[in-house]
Amino acid sequence: MEKFVINGLRQLKGEVSISGCKNAAVAVLPAALLLDGPCRIENIPDIKDVDTLMTILKEMGAEVSSDDSGTVTVDPAKVNTYRADYDLLKSLRASYYLLGALLSRFNKAEVAFPGGCDFGFRPIDQHIKGFEALGATVSIEHGVVKAYAPKLASSQIYLDVVSVGATINLMLAAVKAEGTTIIENAAKEPHVVDTANFLNAMGANIKGAGTDVIRIKGVDRLPGGSYSIIPDQIEAGTFMIAAAATGGDVVVRNMIPKHLESLSAKLREMNVNLEEGEDWIRVWRSGDINKAAIKTLPYPGFPTDLHPQIAVLLCQAEGTSTITEGVWDLRFQYVDELKRMGANIKVEGRMAVIEGITHLTGAPIKATDLRAGAAMVLAGLAAKGKTEVYNIKYIDRGYERIEKKLQSLGADIERVSE
Ligand code: EPU
Repeated sequence: MEKFVINGLRQLKGEVSISGCKNAAVAVLPAALLLDGPCRIENIPDIKDVDTLMTILKEMGAEVSSDDSGTVTVDPAKVNTYRADYDLLKSLRASYYLLGALLSRFNKAEVAFPGGCDFGFRPIDQHIKGFEALGATVSIEHGVVKAYAPKLASSQIYLDVVSVGATINLMLAAVKAEGTTIIENAAKEPHVVDTANFLNAMGANIKGAGTDVIRIKGVDRLPGGSYSIIPDQIEAGTFMIAAAATGGDVVVRNMIPKHLESLSAKLREMNVNLEEGEDWIRVWRSGDINKAAIKTLPYPGFPTDLHPQIAVLLCQAEGTSTITEGVWDLRFQYVDELKRMGANIKVEGRMAVIEGITHLTGAPIKATDLRAGAAMVLAGLAAKGKTEVYNIKYIDRGYERIEKKLQSLGADIERVSE
């Protein structure tokens, strides 16, 4: 078991480069299963979730190799199973993409359903509704989702809730289905667009990704090819908030400023300075932080995956700030941990009410999930004294060498074996 030990109140200064997008990588790697030839994917982040997924693909028979530059090649020719059982999947939350990919490739899929996640149950009713519309029969038996379709045929599917996972899964299932499938009320997140771009680069015909309506014209073959995935929106946002929370001055490089517009707008409202170029944003402070009211929403709204991190910054604002959670019911586990550092936060329904200014003080705290874990690191950096962050396995799932990147910006943070 490892923990981070942080001595806070060091202003972050310098430049940091953002890694490839986790949520694109965990979609694109299973998508490789339905290709008719090998693919080469660049900019894959070196994180635990990717590692787990590569092991799963290998155990299913795919030839997978990776190099130090983040390039992964996958040859799915020898995959001969449509089953992925619980032993294989228990440590991966995004395993549901195997359903769409295997259903497309074998017309059947049996994939263990991990069920809960670190912040609540994750329903997949919209995924199932979509598979059924494409002609599949779906059942859940003994914790395994089973989908069979004698033939996948196109359909028009309206998603009742905007779901990243369902949108991507239905693109995977429909990419070789006969006719043109239409997904309405589709998610517009950058990683949805990136997965569509990946599939198109492999030979698919998908139009409209990034809008509410995606049209997928089925193709017979996906020959494979090369692709480079986008930088991670949430990692970039986390470093932007870290710069502001430590009163530092950081240039976040190799990112797409457009993906962070909702955060940039809020940071400006909070009196944080920003300057941006084509693929970088500089963030620095020159005064006190203003309070803010934030609501998390599907893209292009404020990302739920930056909710716990922005809460840390709002502790530094005078007056009452609020964060209303518009995506996940149970995203407030970070609150009790921040309270241990002196934060004054209460949760009312789906809203966190934050009273400031609070000068956080270091304490032993734990990561309760990936993004709450990132928030704990930020809190440690902004707090007076020593903070120990436990359960950092959650953080390693989604951030590539976070402590090294922070050290290069001047943070006093160490990974220590317990
Ligand atoms: N929902 C349903 N039915 C469904 C699917 C979703 O009701 O069939 C609901 C969920 O309960 C939730 C909302 O719809 O309230 C949005 O869920 P979505 O399906 O969009 O989430 P997801 O695909 O499971 C992805 C990211 C999450 C991120 C959410 C929201 C991946 C692998 N995960 O999850 O990322 O929070 O979208 O943007 O892409 C993270 O990176 O830390 C993370 C949790």
